[in-house]
Amino acid sequence: MNDWLTIQHLSHRYPRIQALDDVSFCVARGACLGIVGASGSGKSTLGRILLGLERPTHGEVSLGGRAYRRRRLTGGSVWRAPGSVSAVFQDYRSSVNPGMTVEQIVAEPLWLGERPPAGEQSRRIAGLLEQVGLDTTLRARYPHQLSGGQLQRVCIARAIACQPDFIVLDEAVNALDMRVQRQILDLLASLRQRLNLTLLFISHDITAVTYLCQQVIFMDQGRVIERVDDISATGQVRHPQARRLLLSAVL
Ligand SMILES: Nc1ncnc2c1ncn2[C@@H]1O[C@H](COP(=O)(O)OP(=O)(O)OP(=O)(O)O)[C@@H](O)[C@H]1O
Ligand SMILES: [Mg+2]
Repeated sequence: MNDWLTIQHLSHRYPRIQALDDVSFCVARGACLGIVGASGSGKSTLGRILLGLERPTHGEVSLGGRAYRRRRLTGGSVWRAPGSVSAVFQDYRSSVNPGMTVEQIVAEPLWLGERPPAGEQSRRIAGLLEQVGLDTTLRARYPHQLSGGQLQRVCIARAIACQPDFIVLDEAVNALDMRVQRQILDLLASLRQRLNLTLLFISHDITAVTYLCQQVIFMDQGRVIERVDDISATGQVRHPQARRLLLSAVL
């Protein structure tokens, strides 16, 4: 199904800024869509809305035919994904609780669902750590005892623990050095294949995007200015702003 995640006429306004302006696109299940754009183009705002962390001013999103729930309540409002969605952020140090061990960090999403018995939980965590290429002896360590690459693998293990419908990766490799970036991108590619994961890979680094994704949307000032289904065919990219972003990687 080519329109598994559908985003229709999504707009989001902050007090003085139109962060998203009539954004519409679809993502097929199991696809890896790159979202590229200059700083401030609205990529993270879009990611937060898809994660259910922020309610858009206008527009609809649906997942597998089920709409995100939008409800106004007294004293607030609700905007929720109809399935399970997880995230991996750039700032892996602040996206984990420094007082929790690797085991506790990865187990957290398991606790939110039905809590597995201790033996089963331990087996699941060992399996998750193995899937992200981490030795299970690291399970008792705290975040400050891990390298950046190891900690980002822990965040990826946590992201896949709840078998999410899709994962939003927001600048997930930017804080890592080039060699480790490559390793994490290879890990994401292989996890995607093995688990049929759907990934939304947000980045202003077109090199990382073209390495991981085939389909790419380009954003500028809150709008989608171009979508290409095969980024390796660079001739497909027509919009001047999108071409500039593409060329910035080649040079
Ligand atoms: N909570 C907020 N309140 C007000 N304005 C915001 C808020 N969050 C983002 N913005 C503004 O909305 C616009 C889009 O921001 P967003 O973070 O989505 O951009 P981005 O494409 O992720 O940029 P970057 O590549 O720098 O991460 C920017 O102009 C930003 O200043
Ligand atoms: Mg951002």
